[in-house]
Amino acid sequence: MDSLLKVNNVTMQFGGLRALGDVNFEIVEGEIFGLIGPNGAGKTTLFNCVTGVYAPTEGAVEFAGAPITGKRPDQIVDIGICRTFQQIRLFPNMTALENVIVGVDARHRTSVFGAIFRSPRRKREERESEDEALRLLDFCGVKRYANDLGRNLSYGDQRRLEIARALATKPKLVLLDEPAAGMNPVEKNGLRGLVRKIRDEGTTVLLIEHDMKVVMGLSDRVAVLDHGEVIAEGHPEEVQSDPKVIEAYLGTGGAATDGKAGQENSASDEPGTVSARAREPGGEK
Ligand SMILES: Nc1ncnc2c1ncn2[C@@H]1O[C@H](COP(=O)(O)OP(=O)(O)O)[C@@H](O)[C@H]1O
Ligand SMILES: [Mg+2]
Repeated sequence: MDSLLKVNNVTMQFGGLRALGDVNFEIVEGEIFGLIGPNGAGKTTLFNCVTGVYAPTEGAVEFAGAPITGKRPDQIVDIGICRTFQQIRLFPNMTALENVIVGVDARHRTSVFGAIFRSPRRKREERESEDEALRLLDFCGVKRYANDLGRNLSYGDQRRLEIARALATKPKLVLLDEPAAGMNPVEKNGLRGLVRKIRDEGTTVLLIEHDMKVVMGLSDRVAVLDHGEVIAEGHPEEVQSDPKVIEAYLGTGGAATDGKAGQENSASDEPGTVSARAREPGGEK
């Protein structure tokens, strides 16, 4: 299998803060690749470097053999990489269907003239967009909410809707930033099935996830970031038993890993415990 994404010596510096330091890894076409690490480790920053939100301070990102470093987010989408966000970003006052059509339309190329006068081509595109959006809503298990406003969907269904919108751009690689955050165990189980289905349909998946059961159960390979550096990489079983990884999650707090680090916590911010270090960050990155 060919390598689809290559992250080569990527460093991201925010003023005096080194969010990523010399990060290297490679994702093979057709795999589910998990990216884990305590809160603040640099996972979302890495997504931002891959998707053109940030240009890395040093290093390069390659996709399907071509350099993509420095390209704009819309160019990255055109190339075939799409993402979801840690903090859900839907159009709350548009229907679920409309939210996905936005993603489909990103691929269409009608001129402004064609759009205003609704040329036959434009009308055909609109029909096709709607059909495709409905197919994706169905694929993601939220078709029954097609005509409901985005904001009226449950949290778990909004996450699914966001995935449908990302898939609408027909990505070769989809980046999911904590898709199971806030989901209950039943929803998490369903999400695992969906992520597998996405991969089985031919889309490679890069997954950030705190829930160990979800990420270890799904991923072909896992990389662990800690303080902006990759401290371990390999098959889930190898990574789970790596002392460096255990140390990164346990810190000095001494709590035991219970298979779901980072899920049960919210308020405390003391460093060094699993719950504090692995919890969800407060702000959107
Ligand atoms: N735009 C930014 N400006 C300054 N610091 C940032 C910015 N984005 C992220 N950071 C910092 O980089 C570090 C890594 O953050 P992030 O990538 O969000 O971690 P993770 O997703 O692993 O929880 C944190 O210390 C965070 O505060
Ligand atoms: Mg994050």
